[in-house]
Amino acid sequence: MKIVTIDTLPFDDQNPGTSGLRKKTEVFQNPTYVENFITAIFKASGRLKGGILVLGGDGRYYNDVVIQKILKMAIAFEIRRVIVGQNGILSTPCASHLIRTRQAEGGIILSASHNPAGPDKDFGIKYNTKNGGPATEDVTGAIYNQSKNISFFSFADVDDFDISKEHTIEAGSTTIEVLDTTKIYADLMESLFDFSMMKTKIKEQNLKIRFDAMNAVTGGYAREIFVNRLGLDESSLLNCVTLSDFGGLHPDPNPTNTHELISVMKNDSSISFGSASDGDGDRNMIVGGKSAVVPSDSLAILCANSQYLNGLKVEGVARSMPTSGAVDRVAKELNMNCYETPTGWKFFGSLLDAGKITLCGEESYGTGSNHVREKDGLWTILAWLSILTARNMSVDEIVEEHWAKYGRDYFLRNDYNVSSEQGANIYNSLASATKSLKGTSVDNVKILDAYVFNYEDPINGNKADNQGVILDLENESRLVYRLSGTGTVGATLRVYVSAYDKNDTTSPVPSKLNAVSILGAKLAKLQELANKDKPDLSVF
Ligand code: G1P
Ligand code: ZN
Repeated sequence: MKIVTIDTLPFDDQNPGTSGLRKKTEVFQNPTYVENFITAIFKASGRLKGGILVLGGDGRYYNDVVIQKILKMAIAFEIRRVIVGQNGILSTPCASHLIRTRQAEGGIILSASHNPAGPDKDFGIKYNTKNGGPATEDVTGAIYNQSKNISFFSFADVDDFDISKEHTIEAGSTTIEVLDTTKIYADLMESLFDFSMMKTKIKEQNLKIRFDAMNAVTGGYAREIFVNRLGLDESSLLNCVTLSDFGGLHPDPNPTNTHELISVMKNDSSISFGSASDGDGDRNMIVGGKSAVVPSDSLAILCANSQYLNGLKVEGVARSMPTSGAVDRVAKELNMNCYETPTGWKFFGSLLDAGKITLCGEESYGTGSNHVREKDGLWTILAWLSILTARNMSVDEIVEEHWAKYGRDYFLRNDYNVSSEQGANIYNSLASATKSLKGTSVDNVKILDAYVFNYEDPINGNKADNQGVILDLENESRLVYRLSGTGTVGATLRVYVSAYDKNDTTSPVPSKLNAVSILGAKLAKLQELANKDKPDLSVF
């Protein structure tokens, strides 16, 4: 087998963000761009040589081309075995599971997660390490350093491999194992939940559901789980065929993007449980007859109802810093530890590995448990289904019961799309204003505390500074500011707004949070520094 080595020059922008390297597809299509970054990954993770690599993606445009490039480079790098999803398809949580169960050194997931797909849309490459979780900052830093010093890359000069069927291919010193992961993932879910009880109760309760895969990676897994194993009707599935452009959908499961699901739920009151997942299957949205469940609440509700999760013993919980404090109230009541981490799933890994937490989540439609080291959309949906069937209650009833007991943490996120310079300027100005803001009142609202969130991992002591600016306001209201690390153009300033009310749990979110939202924009000087009089997007 001929190994070809090609000279290359470094790119200066291969610095992974919140969740891998994410750029416009056309950037990845630049000659040698993919090869450079893959070489940087291989070199930064020395033990891949002679080890096992898991490989797959969410099926988006360019997935097929990049899979073949990586297979050929893996042979040149003498990786012992590459486990690749059939047709290159592999959800993020399933990749995490495979890395863990097959003792792989790591995994490469081709996805820009919830960003749209296509030649003029987004692509991404994410590296996960041995524990199955996203590479931590030290590893992504090493990858970035390698990318800045690359001078050549190598690949096996062979035809494309047939990855359309399950089989094993020997190539040089590498074995390529093509796997249909549908069964593997469905088996994992069946090992975590009592499918036979759920199936019986679904029938007894005549439960009707809708699940929207948004034409992304989870379609096949969902059919196997919901229809084949849980006996639900085929009509339960919406957009369950994986398409390279996701059928033009924006596979970010929130109420703005899931029109079809929301309107089906509104028009047919006999369907009491709706759900959706994102491009690579790690995010989830839960919908009741009335409205979508706020992800921060979803985490709290799973924690409060964990006795209905088939015996899952919850040792502790964690939430990302912008996520509302709803889960903190449950943890306090249950007398368990609750950790606050920076944004990004990579920060939960050490806590999960150390057995300190069992459940974790983010406000950005992500929840998961210790069964893998990624958030898991279908797991969360099954967890809700497990609770609903065990308690014979609807989503709306469960949410209302929760608020009645704990009060309600109103939450929304305002996104402002600005230039990179404006984003940096707004954020840095806020960070340097924290000292002077603390203890003052603005528009009659007292700012009790103001600080930059610097994190020290309680398990390994790793530090991650400057992860956001937090303003704690009176009456348990809070503003959090940070810059997105997953965008591909300019900058997005995220302003997270929350307020707690013990008694009033039924107000519309925008009106309840209006005053704090306006204060948030004013304190960030959005009008003055970026000419913004309203957010580009409000998610609630
Ligand atoms: C966003 C979310 C974050 C999530 C990440 C990957 O990152 O806010 O919670 O972990 O996507 O799904 P951001 O763009 O804010 O950096
Ligand atoms: Zn995702």
